[in-house]
Amino acid sequence: MIKILAFAGSGRKDSVNKKVVAIAAKGAREAGAEVTIVNLEDFDMPIFNEDLEAQQGMPVAAQAFKELMISHDGFLISSPEYNSSYSSLFKNAIDWASRKTGDEANMAAYRGKVAAIMGASPGALGGMRVLVVLRMLMENLGTMVLPNQKAVGGAFAMFDGNGNINDVKTEKALKSLGKELVETLTKLKA
Ligand code: FNR
Repeated sequence: MIKILAFAGSGRKDSVNKKVVAIAAKGAREAGAEVTIVNLEDFDMPIFNEDLEAQQGMPVAAQAFKELMISHDGFLISSPEYNSSYSSLFKNAIDWASRKTGDEANMAAYRGKVAAIMGASPGALGGMRVLVVLRMLMENLGTMVLPNQKAVGGAFAMFDGNGNINDVKTEKALKSLGKELVETLTKLKA
């Protein structure tokens, strides 16, 4: 079975990116995948610092996140756009997971994986600019990023507090992206 790790780049409780991830995850599950949704803030990783790494090694929380990435085939990621880029919460997790700690292959969390990327913002463009740098980052680390992506604009008006979406077209596009990720991974694993 295809295993997908899904997470948002926001630690906010009522994050629209978390809601976007949940809908795409639904699409991936309907396509037959096992999806694990995690909240990055739950890992409570310290800000990456090579001195800290040299003194204490990889923190348990960062190791746990990295192992989750390694044990899944692909990723569903939705990122907020902070000043036209990704959040420090997201980049910090990505940096920790790029560090080698044992006898795993180099960049085992990234190489050979496939990601579908999304963004959500209250602004009209939905964080379109973050998708450019997010794609570049993941590709540089060795993860193939699906050509299709989705930026959800006007996101605050689209979701209620329970994550229900009132825009059928966007819901369909997000679920379809989740499904496409599963279909791509299924072909690659065949
Ligand atoms: C933002 N926000 C924002 N939005 C956007 O569309 N383009 C941008 O460049 C920025 N820049 C930015 C910088 C910083 C530091 C913050 C805190 C916020 C607004 C952002 O889209 C909004 O806070 C979203 O709610 C974040 O997503 P979550 O937390 O709801 O998932």
